[in-house]
Amino acid sequence: MAIGEIFLSSLIQVLLDKLVSMGLDYVQREGVSPTLPRKCEKMLETINEVLDDAEDKQLDGDRLVKRWLDNVRDLAYDLEDLLDEFEIEAAQAKSEAESSTSKGQLKRKFPFFSQPCSLASKTKLLEIVDRFEEIIKRKSLLSLRKNVVDRSHYTNERLPSTSLPESQFFGREKEEEHILELLTGEAENGNTTLSIVPIVGMGGIGKTALAQRLYNDAKVSSYFEKRAWVCVSDVFNVLDITKTILRSITEVSNEGEDLNRLQVKLKDSLSGKKFLVVLDDVWNENYGQWTALLKPFEAGAKGSKIIITTRNYTVVSITGASSYPLKELSLNNCISLLALHALKTTNFERHLDLETIGKKNSRKM
Ligand SMILES: Nc1ncnc2c1ncn2[C@@H]1O[C@H](COP(=O)(O)OP(=O)(O)OP(=O)(O)O)[C@@H](O)[C@H]1O
Ligand SMILES: [Mg+2]
Repeated sequence: MAIGEIFLSSLIQVLLDKLVSMGLDYVQREGVSPTLPRKCEKMLETINEVLDDAEDKQLDGDRLVKRWLDNVRDLAYDLEDLLDEFEIEAAQAKSEAESSTSKGQLKRKFPFFSQPCSLASKTKLLEIVDRFEEIIKRKSLLSLRKNVVDRSHYTNERLPSTSLPESQFFGREKEEEHILELLTGEAENGNTTLSIVPIVGMGGIGKTALAQRLYNDAKVSSYFEKRAWVCVSDVFNVLDITKTILRSITEVSNEGEDLNRLQVKLKDSLSGKKFLVVLDDVWNENYGQWTALLKPFEAGAKGSKIIITTRNYTVVSITGASSYPLKELSLNNCISLLALHALKTTNFERHLDLETIGKKNSRKM
């Protein structure tokens, strides 16, 4: 698969995750049929199945398929924007519900979609479903075949991330500066003991790369007395995460110890210290597990931070923190990144023959 299609395929995966996680909430919403997100999900799956074949045909110069893929991409971006809007509406509903809760009453943690979504969003959703239906119809006319590529070559087995940064890092100056301020700025650290900074965005957008950059920033390493990096990924195992953090902080292995011993030791090691923990690639939506993990951190000094990276806004809502959404790299930085991996240089100056296709792919990245 070309980079553009790998990207489209991961965008579809992100959309599927978002749709699945918001399915039940829709039911509670007024005026939106709960079948609509399910419909979008099914149609996205149907599209995903033929992406490889569409990519092959596009490379062979099939203009109709190319136009179809362009329309799929536009639709995917529009759906992503709409789902983001829903998430913002949910966040607003949450903060309104919380601010109207009088003192002493239990705060509702997840009042997602307890308010009707705006008419504009509802209309957009219906329009998106129509466009999906049209795209599916055209798919049948293009005779695209399902799953033509053996995906076992593209296993999802990824190496666990480490705290070491990329040797070449492009762009993100504003994001870096902003998050550095959140991490080390005076205003942020007045009274709070522990703050969570969730970096959210679709797969491959550069969340981990940015977190690595921040983790290794000179200001960050001098500001925090203790730092730990944990690659969490699929399984949110409180015992394993605690063990990894403790090992980073104390540089002693604690194999065989139970969660209680580990948490007590971690609490003692962090007591009165300003620390930074990065939890990379979090998928956990279980509030109980999250609060269980956080217990030892309360002992840290004011200004301690946890950065999480995640594709999933539900994960962020569980932390109770405001998300830091990460958008695409600028076109020029995408070109540099593509050139770096394809040509081991940061531009196409010496490869003018590849420049057009390179720029085209960068636009799709
Ligand atoms: N600004 C950047 N400069 C250089 N390389 C980058 C940059 N952003 C991302 N990359 C590279 O792009 C690839 C994907 O980035 P990364 O792993 O950070 O994405 P991610 O958002 O964490 O994805 P996932 O959700 O799958 O974990 C990596 O090889 C990374 O090094
Ligand atoms: Mg990542």
